[in-house]
Amino acid sequence: MKKQFIAGNWKMNLTLEKAKALVKELCNGLADSEAVDVGIFPSFVYLKDICDILKGHNVFVGAQNMNMEKSGAFTGEVSGEMLRDIGCTHVIVGHSERRAIYQETNSMVNAKIKAALSNDLCPILCVGESQEERDADKTREIVEGQLSGGLEDLTSEQVEGLTIAYEPVWAIGTGKTATPEQANEVHAFIRNIIRSKYNDDTAQSIRIQYGGSVNSKNAKDLLGQPEIDGALVGGASLDSNSFLDIVSEAVKFS
Ligand code: PGA
Repeated sequence: MKKQFIAGNWKMNLTLEKAKALVKELCNGLADSEAVDVGIFPSFVYLKDICDILKGHNVFVGAQNMNMEKSGAFTGEVSGEMLRDIGCTHVIVGHSERRAIYQETNSMVNAKIKAALSNDLCPILCVGESQEERDADKTREIVEGQLSGGLEDLTSEQVEGLTIAYEPVWAIGTGKTATPEQANEVHAFIRNIIRSKYNDDTAQSIRIQYGGSVNSKNAKDLLGQPEIDGALVGGASLDSNSFLDIVSEAVKFS
């Protein structure tokens, strides 16, 4: 069994005060939890404060997005170097909201992953199909395309530094979760793609999180699946009790 990785994607939520309070509650609740990797992904403007609070604690801090360029005239954007500079270790790349609302393509996602890795940031690459695509039996095709595009030109060493999050779009923020079996099947498919693109060691070592309406009630069944190595949690990560409950479930499978 791999060490599970539970990540909280706070999206565009919370005030600075609430974000700091939440992080303090998490620190208290996680006290000596080393069995599971835990990461939180606040909005850009709160990252520095949260990184400062979490210094010396065993919780990763990451951004929800980044720009693929090194520096320059890119108004409103944030580079990997800037994230690293303030203490971030991780970054979410290719979240479905960024793909759908901000037209991020697989080649942009690929450039962001490369920029993240060259700044020593660990990317969480999000993939997943829409309801329409699932209904049309295109789940595998979509996920395979997102992986091929997102991982283009990456070596096995680089890929081993990544986490992949399978997040079916129809399950995000809807309260509709993939069944544990449905999720496990796609996770196995993803791992097979990594195996055929790279090798068995890489496929075995990469962690694949499930995301989409994960909460303290369904976490046990999802995390108990053999191919599921953690969760990317949205809504339920905004409440310390539910997030800590999910982490506790993950401890059982780490
Ligand atoms: P959700 O979001 O848990 O609120 O469905 C997950 C995500 O978007 O990463």
